[in-house]
Amino acid sequence: MGFDAIEVITVKRDRGELSTAQIDWVIGAYTRGEVADEQMSALLMAILLNGMNRREIADWTQAMIRSGERMDWSSLDRPTADKHSTGGVGDKITLPLAPLVAACGAYVPQLSGRGLGHTGGTLDKLESIPGWRASLSNDEMLAVIRSAGAVVCAAGAGLAPADKKLYALRDVTGTVESIPLIASSIMSKKIAEGTGSLVLDVKAGSGAFMKNVDDARELARTMVELGTDAGVRTVALLTAMDRPLGLKVGNALEVEEAVEVLAGGGPADVVELTVRLAREMLEAAAVPGAGDPEEALKDGSAMDAWRRMIVAQGGDPDAPLPTAAESAVVVAPASGTLRTLDALKVGVAAWRLGAGRARKEDPVSAGAGIVLHAKPGETVRAGAPLMTLYADEAARFDRALQALEGAYEIGEDGLDLLPLVIDRLTA
Ligand code: URA
Repeated sequence: MGFDAIEVITVKRDRGELSTAQIDWVIGAYTRGEVADEQMSALLMAILLNGMNRREIADWTQAMIRSGERMDWSSLDRPTADKHSTGGVGDKITLPLAPLVAACGAYVPQLSGRGLGHTGGTLDKLESIPGWRASLSNDEMLAVIRSAGAVVCAAGAGLAPADKKLYALRDVTGTVESIPLIASSIMSKKIAEGTGSLVLDVKAGSGAFMKNVDDARELARTMVELGTDAGVRTVALLTAMDRPLGLKVGNALEVEEAVEVLAGGGPADVVELTVRLAREMLEAAAVPGAGDPEEALKDGSAMDAWRRMIVAQGGDPDAPLPTAAESAVVVAPASGTLRTLDALKVGVAAWRLGAGRARKEDPVSAGAGIVLHAKPGETVRAGAPLMTLYADEAARFDRALQALEGAYEIGEDGLDLLPLVIDRLTA
């Protein structure tokens, strides 16, 4: 059934409810180029201002899924589980998590993205491993998952093409920050990816998309409802992004930290969140006789799965990772307790050092980034190193240091930090 774009726009402008048929039509017609960008921009702004109810959001998501292909893993003999993080600074959890969950008995098909702005993308991180390839055909994906238990690769152009077009339009029309639009964008891709179960890591704090816990909770609730309505067993954890995760921020640096975790070491917060998410994924996927994630980190089986996964995608897990040519040390200006370390400021500094990109087509530096020598709650001494900055060109340090102004506070005891895991939401 055909509609008129103006009719659909005015329903939402006047705070009305869009019908299933109207949503199907407008998403399909926009993807085919029959609804103009300026008309879709007006509709997106009306949605941002006036919202959508649960039925409208589910219809919007399903229409985006129908715009492309839906992956099918039914030929696999074990349950599939995936995780999606809304993104943060130092969030390299996918890297140890995917092989860890594979080692414990689930298949992990994970289609990931590249970073834009101050949060890094999983593919950018993995591409710092010499030879590793992000783009795989569907047959190659199946082959990798069969041999390694997990595959982390780029989503092909055929998956939710409506979302690709809509996201690009939202990016330039001030309509990214709408919970119904963010939730449907993320979930259309995750549902189309075909996973049987999904654990969402929804971050809250300065370095996250959602700066406050209430907004993060609302986004998490909306995504859990969408997954559940689509028949995907979905759980969400709300987690802290007021400070960076782990001690290393940057592409190769984060791979290095992920490998430390897979070798049974690594920073406590990264290990805790990796193990917690692994348990949630194994439970959501209902893996019969699932292994214990803590054990799999200790006995080397998660590391074995990582090596298989990297090799299967052309990478050399033993090759030295790229390093940056230049470094600069930031020292503590006073002695005391490191009370805060702002995730956003650290993320922007790493981005300015070359770890992130400003436009989609920009390259990223593999070696650039920041290594933290202290985390909030730890004692620091005046003059001792607080963090080391890495870049390919020394000229980048000034702007990175400017981003770090006011990024930390050293004082007496009295921390005001979010708990690492703030809440858990289920349907
Ligand atoms: N990530 C997405 O995939 N979509 C959004 O709208 C926001 C973050």
